[in-house]
Amino acid sequence: MKAIEIRNKYLNFFERHGHKVIKSASLIPENDPSVLFTTAGMHPLVPYLLGEKHPEGTRLTDYQKCLRTVDIDEVGDNRHLTFFEMLGNWSLGDYFREESIQMSYDFLTQELNIPAEKISVTCFKGDKDAPKDETSAECWRKAGIPDERIYFYGKDDNWWIAGEEGPCGPDTEMFYDTGKEPCSKDCQPSCDCGKYVEIWNNVFMEYFKNPDGTYSKLKQKNVDTGLGLERMTMLLQGKETPFDTELFEPVMKVLKEKSNNDNIDSRRIVAEHLRSSIMIINDGGRPSNVDRGYILRRLLRRMTRHLNKLGIDLKELENLIDVSIDTLKEMYPDVLDNKSKIKNVIIEEKNKFMKTLKNGEKEFEKALNNIKQKGEDIISAEVVFNLYETYGFPPEMTVELANEYNVKVNIEDFDKLFREHQEKSRMANDQKFKGGLAEQNEMTIKYHTATHLLHKALQIVLGEHAVQKGSNITSERLRFDFANPQKVTPEELQEVEKIVNEQIKRNLEVTCEEMTLEEAKKSGAMGLFENKYGEKVKVYTIGDFSKEICGGPHVKNTSELGTFKIKKEEASSAGVRRIKAVLL
Ligand code: ALA
Repeated sequence: MKAIEIRNKYLNFFERHGHKVIKSASLIPENDPSVLFTTAGMHPLVPYLLGEKHPEGTRLTDYQKCLRTVDIDEVGDNRHLTFFEMLGNWSLGDYFREESIQMSYDFLTQELNIPAEKISVTCFKGDKDAPKDETSAECWRKAGIPDERIYFYGKDDNWWIAGEEGPCGPDTEMFYDTGKEPCSKDCQPSCDCGKYVEIWNNVFMEYFKNPDGTYSKLKQKNVDTGLGLERMTMLLQGKETPFDTELFEPVMKVLKEKSNNDNIDSRRIVAEHLRSSIMIINDGGRPSNVDRGYILRRLLRRMTRHLNKLGIDLKELENLIDVSIDTLKEMYPDVLDNKSKIKNVIIEEKNKFMKTLKNGEKEFEKALNNIKQKGEDIISAEVVFNLYETYGFPPEMTVELANEYNVKVNIEDFDKLFREHQEKSRMANDQKFKGGLAEQNEMTIKYHTATHLLHKALQIVLGEHAVQKGSNITSERLRFDFANPQKVTPEELQEVEKIVNEQIKRNLEVTCEEMTLEEAKKSGAMGLFENKYGEKVKVYTIGDFSKEICGGPHVKNTSELGTFKIKKEEASSAGVRRIKAVLL
């Protein structure tokens, strides 16, 4: 069965069961700076899972373009994809476990004709937050799965949440037995050996995970399911990997013909990254040095490097884009409309990267001569970092070249430097969100002001070293990262809380002035001066207590804030602590 047929069967099946087919959302989430890409079918539906009425009703189904980049370095093995399609069906306070499980079972066995014996399932084993999911197990038994193929696992396997907080719940997962020999006598669906492949996940979303780690009940009981189309296609076609299906095979074939070696990992990386890049560009993404633009840049650069590794002339890229678009056009017809745009973006980025590589190689040779003159045989972490930071030269390339020249590379220290660099960019991003990209409402505005009070109070109690390292605000809480070598004691936290509440009670006026960064510094305003603020900055002053550079907005008077309470203090990274606090 081809992927498109599986998709159509799915949507038809759920339509017959009272679901409305809704449109796939963009890969690039609208108005949501908290994530870079749509990572699951439920993502565009979060407001409705939380209780808002969906215009199409309480039973929905769709196919959703998704992109997950946590696995980017794993692509090249036989399973991992960055871009994939998730088929899903949702109950928004409508049906729950019983109907959901019965429909899944029927779809798998009757529509896809998967023999019931090949299906194993897993359920949540229960813990302090939620009980053992006996109901799901009972529903599976009723549907036709015997006890020996029903497994119970804990939160790591059978609890689903997107990220750190939000709607979530226990899930039941379906696994396909490939018929391979078990790797041991304990081989189970949770095992990674490849005998069992996860095919569908039904989440019984009735909880909300709060920022402080506790769980509350949602207004309604929802079902959120996700079935990975590429994987299902591979299994139904009896193929070993998604790269052997019609979704990748034509591109893989060209790559094989044109390459001068048999590096299968590189072929998969090229085919996969090309496909993801096409889909990102199709939805409006462009390469850049930040956020999602940087992910796209990484995908395209990694693809180019592996084309080089395969010994394929980069002039072939245009043809490869054509072939890849051919594999996508039936499922996503708009890629055809955007074909020339997609090509231009990819070719331009490839050209830029080639220049980068050339410049980088020159710099590498300089560095090499340098160390040879000194009689050394190891390239320092700083050199690797400089090549990366200034010339965009990937560290893997430095290592590769170093191998060719028989010199070593201090890659451990480079990793450390790199992590520090990432931490800094993350902080800059947090700052950017704080500067106004994130949602603005009455509560977030209050939390902005509370953050300034907290920042100053921390400096009073802990010392001037306790400067801001990051901040993230939602309507529910503030999160504040600051420099401090050790854990903040409960007494210190109490003192900080007391100071903030005293300032709130003093009814201090909050005022704003615009000035240049220089003037702001002179006025003694706090702020992340290493970040780019533009010519003029806003300085917010809270009575005689705090003065800080910030994009705002803020409340007019501290009396609006209510009571400030610290909920949690924990490590964020080396030398950086994190406080989560709420206003009551
Ligand atoms: N949201 C669930 C998942 O992504 C269905 O697995």
